[in-house]
Parts: sequence; C-alpha cells; structure tokens
Amino acid sequence: MTSSADARIGLGRGNGKVVLLGEHAVVYGMPAIAAGISLGATARATPSASSSIRIAERRAHAGDGSELITALERIRQELGAGPQQVEVDVEVPLGSGLGGSAAIGVAVSRALLATLGEAETPRRVLAGADAWERVFHGNPSGVDAAAAYAGGCIWFTKEAGPEPLFVDLPLQLVICLAGPPASTKQMVEGVQRLGERRPDLLGKSLAGIESLVKNAKLCIQAGDLSGLGQLMNYNQMLLSGLFLSTPEIERACAVARAAGALGAKLTGAGGGGAVVALCDGSPQTVEEALRAADFAAFSTVVQASVGGLRP
Ligand code: MEV
Repeated sequence: MTSSADARIGLGRGNGKVVLLGEHAVVYGMPAIAAGISLGATARATPSASSSIRIAERRAHAGDGSELITALERIRQELGAGPQQVEVDVEVPLGSGLGGSAAIGVAVSRALLATLGEAETPRRVLAGADAWERVFHGNPSGVDAAAAYAGGCIWFTKEAGPEPLFVDLPLQLVICLAGPPASTKQMVEGVQRLGERRPDLLGKSLAGIESLVKNAKLCIQAGDLSGLGQLMNYNQMLLSGLFLSTPEIERACAVARAAGALGAKLTGAGGGGAVVALCDGSPQTVEEALRAADFAAFSTVVQASVGGLRP
C-alpha cells in the first residue's frame, strides 16, 4: 500500500469478512458470497537482520518454531522478501469466523510487497495470504483472503477466484459473537469426516447450499432483501444439519429474527464464533436485542455498489 523509499518500511491493510452464504460448501468447489467489513488488521514491515512478528500482544521470533513465525516465513518465501520485523494491529476479534487470520495475511503481504517497492496485484497479495492461511487452516478455499483483499461484496469459487458482485441496496448487517472461537481447520475436517461416513447427507446439503447461493446472488443484485434473508435462514438450517451450529448460535439467530432481522445465520466455520443478521432498515433494534441477550454485537454495512476488488 504505502512505503518509504528511504527506510523501506511497508504498510498494509486487510479487511475482516463475513460469508453471507456458502461457507464450507465453497471448500468443495461450490460458490460462496462474502463481503469485507470495516474492522480489519494493519501491518507494518521493516527489513531487518532476522525475522520477528508481533500480533497484538503475541510475539514470535525466527527459530522459535511457532506457527506465527512459520507463517511469516512462508509469506516471505512466496513473495521473495528478506527477513522482516513485522508489527500487526488487529481490530477484528480473532478466531470468531470474521476472517481475522486472512485479514492479517493480506495486511502482511501488502506490507512486504511495499518494502520491495512492488506495486501490488491481486495475484501477488492473495498468493502471500494463501501461504499464511495454509499454516493455520490446512486447505483454505481462499474465500476469506479474497474478501479481506477486496473489501466489497464478492462472488467466489475455488476454481475462478473472486468476482465483484453488484449490490443493489446496502446490506445492513449486525454481527454478534455467539460462543468461544472455534478452529476453522477442525470444523472443516469435521465436515470431511461426516462426508466419509454419510456421503449422501453431505452431497445433498452441498447441492442445497449451492442453489441457495445462486438465488442469493439474484436477490443481492435485485435489492430483494427479504428474499436474501430467507435464503440465509435456509442456509443456517443446512449448516445446522452438518453439525456446524451450537445452542448459542441458534439462540443468537432466534433473538435476531425475533427483533426483526430478515435472516440470520452463522458466518465462517461455525462451532462457535460469529452470527450475521440481515436487517431491514436500521440495525439498532436487532443490535440492542442481542446485547440484551448478553451477546457482544456490532453493526456494519455492505455498501450498494459494484463489489470490491482493487486492481
Ligand atoms: C471460513 O470462513 C470459511 C470456510 O468455508 C473455510 C474455507 O472456505 O476455507 C469454513
């Protein structure tokens, strides 16, 4: 993003994300719809004799064998950068399904490219972010990193990558945290094991989710918010059938819907973490109802526009 030619300090930013529909199915090649949110991560990289990284209060140094330093070394190798001292500040709650890890991967990749004096391209930034994500998530579909990079609303498949998605009416979202964070890697592996035991169940669920996502695209493009909300509710039912929901997630969805949300579902890997609710007009009533039910909640808006993807 920015760099100082003298000190070769690089700055980079990545957004957090919500998956509006299609998580997990996207790992199996189905489409997903995701959007960047304003909370994210900012990284500052300075070339140095040996690599180190600080993320909020966590620190790691070259040779300590931690996942954090391994992830930094993988980005460096991918992008061809030398040793770096990297400082990351994060606004998005980590491990909550809001793409914190991908936001950091994108921010660090951008910062490293800036130290190299290289103009960023989606291919380079996403390759760096993918190298980072693979350390923590095994086999990510790439949807989180694409949304972290793009900022706006995207249509994503593993095969074709991200495409901007036109949003006819702004999407007023309330996001709430419904339980302790879950590991994306473990949740994805859980679905894989379920598929090995019950291929029929997984196959039917994936086909159902694919058709919901395709219809949701039409709703977003046409500004049909109540249709979109209903599709989100159906997506939640199918995710629940794959054992990805929890009593807290179900309770948060029920509170949001009772307070007037058009739809509500888990977002990200499930098993805890975040719920996203689509609101009709002002999100305040839904946000207040969730807070009154002891959930941490905040609102964010996906602007009406051609979805993000900077060159
Ligand atoms: C996590 O935000 C989305 C998942 O589909 C995993 C992935 O796509 O890599 C659960």
